[in-house]
Amino acid sequence: CAMTGGARPRIGFTPLPAQTNPDFDAVQVPAGYRAVPFYSWGDPIDAEAPRWRADAGNDWRDQLRQAGDNHDGMHYFPFPDNPNGHGLLVINHEKVATDFLHPRGATVLQDEQGRPRRPGEEVNKELAAHGVSVIEIAKDRAGQWRRIMTSSYNRRISGLTPMILSGPAAGAEAMCTASDPTGRRVIGTFANCALGYTPWGTYLACEENWPNYFVNRDAEDYQRRPQQARYRLSQGERSNYYLWETAQSRFDATPDRSLPHQGEVNEPNRFGWVVEIDPFDPNSTPVKRTAMGRLVRECATPSLADDGRMAFYFGDDTRGEYIYKFVPRDRYRADDPGANRELLDHGTLYVAVFHDDGRGEWRPLRHGQGPLNAANGFPDQAAVLINARGAADLLGATRMDRPEWVAVRPGSREVYVTLTNNDERGVDDGQPVNAANPRPRNLHGQILRWRERDNDPAATVFDWALFLLAGYPAGSDAPAHQWGTIQGDVFSSPDGLWFDPAGRLWIETDYDDESPDHQAMGTNQLLCADPDSGEVRRFLVGPRGCEITGITGTPDGRTLWINVQHPGISYPASDGRTRPRSTTVLITRDDGGEIGT
Ligand code: FEO
Ligand code: CA
Ligand code: CA
Ligand code: CA
Repeated sequence: CAMTGGARPRIGFTPLPAQTNPDFDAVQVPAGYRAVPFYSWGDPIDAEAPRWRADAGNDWRDQLRQAGDNHDGMHYFPFPDNPNGHGLLVINHEKVATDFLHPRGATVLQDEQGRPRRPGEEVNKELAAHGVSVIEIAKDRAGQWRRIMTSSYNRRISGLTPMILSGPAAGAEAMCTASDPTGRRVIGTFANCALGYTPWGTYLACEENWPNYFVNRDAEDYQRRPQQARYRLSQGERSNYYLWETAQSRFDATPDRSLPHQGEVNEPNRFGWVVEIDPFDPNSTPVKRTAMGRLVRECATPSLADDGRMAFYFGDDTRGEYIYKFVPRDRYRADDPGANRELLDHGTLYVAVFHDDGRGEWRPLRHGQGPLNAANGFPDQAAVLINARGAADLLGATRMDRPEWVAVRPGSREVYVTLTNNDERGVDDGQPVNAANPRPRNLHGQILRWRERDNDPAATVFDWALFLLAGYPAGSDAPAHQWGTIQGDVFSSPDGLWFDPAGRLWIETDYDDESPDHQAMGTNQLLCADPDSGEVRRFLVGPRGCEITGITGTPDGRTLWINVQHPGISYPASDGRTRPRSTTVLITRDDGGEIGT
């Protein structure tokens, strides 16, 4: 299918070589550009908050008022009177680097029975370092971006912040716990990876790797619960990540039949959602919108038609999982802001089928339609949403190579998705090679794009094509299954994806820069692509050990922010001794011009 029609962007910078120095500990951008650390883990949220201690000696109460860790998706919300010089920057904090968050890394004690136990203070600090930051920023008289430290907008949302559950699954029996018998109140958000935003000015923090934060120690009970087994919740003696269950019982989803609602067995059902946050109302309570389904969700990228119809696109980032969209029942109304507040509570969740001939279909996850009935384990819409993966299985959706970010091209509304990699493709019987996922043992990933029929975000059919396969050039020394189709600079594992206002496609990578398969690609990177010609140029290389993720900018295209997540050496101090800190990086051009041209 022809994929043209957006604005034709210009790419004019001189690309950087791959950064293969094993000790590289900085951010590098092309000549004529500048990249400076702007907001790092531990930075005080406002003028009253405690300063970051280089020995990681800040306690959890300090951490609640400092930047969280592992910066990921983010979005810039301009103020209308000065959109290119004043706004709110909202940033996800996906997870924690426990080696650096605590003075001597994570402490694991033992109880009398020899079982591991985490100190409550450390667990609270980890919860406090997850979530979201809202910071007010403005250009000063010299044209330099500054944080407004006295702003009442500055806010931390964390794993300890009270939230509301709304939509069809709120209040369902499967959402009730001993500590919340209403099924409508939940403490915290975490695993906030990528993001979305809405035309009515709210931020959508998405919950990704939550199955690793809970454990059900009862193997038989676990197998009876598709909302746990199908999502690979931790099973066994401990949770996969941080052992929070040893300090706070709500992370232990093992049923306790002596308690109402069997204790906390339903607590994991209250994660995996889209969390809507109003950054312009610092007193607002975040809302988990259950109509959008429960997934290991990467993002929630909006597409808006001229008549107010919308879609939000997202991937479920696990090997062989699906791509979805949510279409609100009602239209967005620019003239009536109050009417938009509950748009995300009513609508249809769809899952994608990619046929080998380039056609695609959206199949609705709607209770009572097709196989989604009580006999198949879906007695109501709440059950469909809580086990969206299981419902999508019954609809014959296409298993993809780990869908990460989605970006919508300005003007044409073409949709692009990163499929980051999948070493089980063609190896696992359930994941045969197909046209959309064409390489076995896919180490380097691909970018796929589609166009909805009539460019209507609510359409139920689309045409799709591959944009590129990442990896080494065909004919190179690498094994043939690692060959890609990139026209330009080489990279692997595309993850973050974003269109700037002029229609340039920015690609961010997340691969293991220590592995032999990635050696020649250097450290993780930000690249810029022309969606029409397919040309790709390397714009930024990051410090050793980090992932490059999160990207947003001003409407005039002259300011860009990206995130350096989990740098490995000492960035941003880059002195070889200070502990490394995840950091939002500010990128501008020396001549003040548009970035990328
Ligand atoms: Fe948190 Fe799928 O990246
Ligand atoms: Ca990601
Ligand atoms: Ca990734
Ligand atoms: Ca990450």
